[in-house]
Amino acid sequence: LQQQPVPSGLRRPPGPRGYPVLGNVLELRKDPHLALTRLSRRYGDVMQVRIGTRAVLVLSGLDTIRQALVKQGEDFMGRPDLYSFRFVTDGQSLTFSPDSGEVWKARRKLAQSALKSFSIAPSPTSSSSCLLEEHVSQEAEYLVSNKFLQLMEEKGRFEPYRYLVVSVANVICAMCFGKRYEHDDLELLSLVNSAEEFTDVAAAGNPADFIPVLRYLPSRSMKLFLDFNRCFLSFMQKRVKEHYETYDEGPRELRDDAPQSSWGCSGAPTPLPVLLHDFVPPSSQNNIRDITDSLIDQCLDKKLGTNTAAQIPREKIVNLVNDLFGAACPPPPEPPQTAPCDGQGGCCAELTPSLCPGFDTVTTALSWSLMYLVTYPNIQKRIQEELDRTIGRERRPRLSDQGTLPYTESFILEMFRHSSFVPFTIPHSTTKDTVLNGYYIPKDHCVFINQWQVNHDEKLWKDPESFIPERFLSADGTRVNKEVGEKVLMFGLGKRRCIGENIARGQVFLFLATLLQQLEFSVCQGSRVDMTPLYGLSLKHKRCEHFQVRQCFPTKGRS
Ligand code: HEM
Repeated sequence: LQQQPVPSGLRRPPGPRGYPVLGNVLELRKDPHLALTRLSRRYGDVMQVRIGTRAVLVLSGLDTIRQALVKQGEDFMGRPDLYSFRFVTDGQSLTFSPDSGEVWKARRKLAQSALKSFSIAPSPTSSSSCLLEEHVSQEAEYLVSNKFLQLMEEKGRFEPYRYLVVSVANVICAMCFGKRYEHDDLELLSLVNSAEEFTDVAAAGNPADFIPVLRYLPSRSMKLFLDFNRCFLSFMQKRVKEHYETYDEGPRELRDDAPQSSWGCSGAPTPLPVLLHDFVPPSSQNNIRDITDSLIDQCLDKKLGTNTAAQIPREKIVNLVNDLFGAACPPPPEPPQTAPCDGQGGCCAELTPSLCPGFDTVTTALSWSLMYLVTYPNIQKRIQEELDRTIGRERRPRLSDQGTLPYTESFILEMFRHSSFVPFTIPHSTTKDTVLNGYYIPKDHCVFINQWQVNHDEKLWKDPESFIPERFLSADGTRVNKEVGEKVLMFGLGKRRCIGENIARGQVFLFLATLLQQLEFSVCQGSRVDMTPLYGLSLKHKRCEHFQVRQCFPTKGRS
């Protein structure tokens, strides 16, 4: 950017001077969300830093971010061609690949439609109002009865994260693969229980992304990152292969163009274009079991939907399940020890990503919620009183209770805001030369969006460092103030906004409501939880082994 001439009347974004080669890396090494927030106070909402040899535009301030991602959404919707992103899902990732053209748009639409079909579609077998509700209720019930209460009886205390993560992973597993794992299943445990090892991960990703010369030096972390991606793909391919082998489209007319190979991650891709049609949800009319089956169905069905121009190669359809299940994983700079890949997923144990759409983010949200609940027992009590008043004990909470529990919902919003555990969105890039707030930004410029800054901006929030759910309530306390709620930035905005947002919000709400209807959380006497965020691609907290629960009784019984 420094070298390029700036068109007359425009300015270059200001920013701190950096060192040769390293740029501003030294200032940003520790807690970059805080360092960049401090720098934005000095240089403004549109600021430029250098990370290694790469110039990075850093956007702060809700209005500026809305202007860029929403009003000028097309200009800022790209993803940078970061070296390490090329290896995620063989460079085919919906989330990380630099493609933001027609094929990307059609794939994103398809992934959104898949998620919707397998979350809000009515459950063909149960009394729940939809599939998502059925999966979450089941998992939350299991946590209450078979885990938390039992652990209390056996050990008198427990660490909740390791149980939450399996339950949340089971929800996305059910949607993607129609499969539920037991809490002691080694295959799933190995896949999800290693997140702890990644809490040191730096948000800026792999140093080789920013200092190109490092790509040519032997790097243990890069090697392990590549091993992970190979391994994760191998695990996912195994699931997809099983689906192809057992796929049965049911009573609908048989089609003659069965797939030649599974999907394009091993060997040569099969660039047969298919035409998109409406997503097939599970129903009594077909045998579509899950998202993977539905994606396979999309690949097979070339006769329908000729009215859409979007053509997606086959292999780019089925591997969308990677982005949904959690292949969207930025590189771990501090490599853990990995076992050799056996294609069974076991080696992926150490490779759980920090920003993993499918389950890691939702687990982190629930885990932060429990930390706040035990830190603020009066807030917990108020949520339970609201649950008793509105839902009672005769039935379990439902997704449709959202909108009737304003205090609980305000608590969740405040948890998102205060923890800001996804401090930055995934990096964006400009798709053409553009101008923002009078500053010239050339095409293909890497852009960081500082969500943490927005959520702690004194111009938007009174006393931003305090945890106050009431800030989201209307004056009479009977509803959530929607306008205030929309100021919390957690899922990005605009064309790259998280496609799992509704599912994530629904899951957090229903898990919490079901747990809190039955259980009261605390920590052992004399223990305190440590709320200091551990910086990584998502902010986690130290695990606490001293959680306790007791079964709670209707409001009268609560002291
Ligand atoms: C992208 C947050 C849950 C799927 C993102 C982004 C953020 C985010 C910040 C990047 C937005 C940007 O680059 O501007 C979260 C949080 C979650 C959550 C806080 C939970 C509390 C989920 C779930 C799924 C999911 C449950 C899917 C099942 C995705 C996908 C993208 C994405 C596919 C990439 C979108 C694209 O590049 O076009 N999420 N997410 N997320 N998320 Fe989520």
